[in-house]
Amino acid sequence: MAESSSDLRRRRWWRSTTTRVLAGVATVAATATVLVTAPGADAAASTLGAAAAQSGRYFGTAIAAGRLSNSAYTTIAAREFNMVTPENEMKPDATEPNQNQFNFSAGDQVYNWAVSHGSRVRGHTLAWHGQQPGWMQNMGGSALRSAMINHIQKVMGHYQGKLAYWDVVNEAFNEDGSRRQSNLQGTGNDWIEVAFKTARAADPSVKLCYNDYNIDNWSYGKTQGVYRMVQDFKSRGVPIDCVGLQAHFTGGSSVPGNFQQTISSFAALGVDVALTEVDVTNSNTSQYSALTQACVNVARCVGITVWGVRDSDSWRSNESPLLFDGNGNKKAAYNSVLNVLNSAGPGPTTTPTTPTTTPTDTTTPTTTPTTPGGGSCTATLSAGQSWGDRYNLNVSVSGSSSWTVTMNVPSPERISTTWNINATWPSSQVLIATPNGSGNNWGVTIMTNGNRTWPSVSCSAS
Ligand code: G3I
Repeated sequence: MAESSSDLRRRRWWRSTTTRVLAGVATVAATATVLVTAPGADAAASTLGAAAAQSGRYFGTAIAAGRLSNSAYTTIAAREFNMVTPENEMKPDATEPNQNQFNFSAGDQVYNWAVSHGSRVRGHTLAWHGQQPGWMQNMGGSALRSAMINHIQKVMGHYQGKLAYWDVVNEAFNEDGSRRQSNLQGTGNDWIEVAFKTARAADPSVKLCYNDYNIDNWSYGKTQGVYRMVQDFKSRGVPIDCVGLQAHFTGGSSVPGNFQQTISSFAALGVDVALTEVDVTNSNTSQYSALTQACVNVARCVGITVWGVRDSDSWRSNESPLLFDGNGNKKAAYNSVLNVLNSAGPGPTTTPTTPTTTPTDTTTPTTTPTTPGGGSCTATLSAGQSWGDRYNLNVSVSGSSSWTVTMNVPSPERISTTWNINATWPSSQVLIATPNGSGNNWGVTIMTNGNRTWPSVSCSAS
């Protein structure tokens, strides 16, 4: 098949970048033995997660615990996605079926599946008018306010240090930008900020998001209402780290022409933006490309999650809105998304000349051989691409083929994503990596949060 112009752009971009990576490595003598290329260094990445990781982003899906026994489903999910949102399993009716009696079995099932397949997890959701357990639906006033706080504390306590993002509050606005009437709203207009403050105290390691639908069109009342709330929170120091645009382009809605303006406007408030529940009627390819392009054009658009794996898994399966058909085949929209991800530059535009490749920390990369169990291994770091807010490190493991690498990232830096490993994430600063069959060269993207000190690594062989 002929190479598309976007493939060509991508290949040229990687070639020039790789040259500069090698030059950068050469100036740091200790790394000269390890010339690890970033994923897809001379070829486009072939999965959604790997393609998104090239620009420091993730590509995720909603996962339903009840489908984890279906191998066709899990094969696609494990291969393609590196972020997982439990579709229903972390919602209030699932986690607190009786007041102050918590049940994390389904949530843990999804969480454990995700991390054992190298994926991170977005928690969804803590305070919402929907999917409340019966006891909560009948509650109001100060009793409900206390119950909401207790719910956030207990659920976040259970997942403390384990999740990348939490949808703290979901769908709290009307279409005209006013607050939606609900039992939670009835407890007082400050319920949202109380939820966010409670969430920050319960787990300071996770990013806290507001999540909603129909906030895609910048001119729309609801978009403006949510924007004003985030702007107000930022100005008053109410903790909020991200906004999730659900981006359900089903049920008669479609990607607006000003979608990128919406994303960049939220990002300009100083929050991450994510597309959190994407689906598109009949998987229209140009709409899927447009929404993906809009995200990759904005540096703080951190990732895209589609709301299910195959059309048959969708809450709107009659609209066939996802990237895989019911038989698990890639649809045309899959290729359009993959191509956009593969041609994405790292910055606010797709201009392929913007990345720099030299981290400000050029200390000798840590290589720590250890010899437990008689074998030994060495993990060696080298610089990958670097952008304004994040950098890639390539890791090469030598010695034993049965290794475990532990990486400790100094705060306030945070691990964003990984490739070519099985990864578990005890926290955003600690990564435990084991082989996933992709070989001994892998990588990690680290968000700087203003600091570029390289992590320490240790390797143990078994
Ligand atoms: O599990 C029960 C099953 O035992 C029972 O027989 C069956 C009978 O209806 O219901 C099953 O539960 C359903 C559940 O999905 C699991 O399939 C619920 O009825 C159904 O209401 C629920 O729908 C979910 C919906 O949220 C509820 O609000 C969808 O799966 C889920 O995709 C959807 O997700 C929401 C996001 O959380 C927020 N944004 C909108 C998005 C789409 O509605």
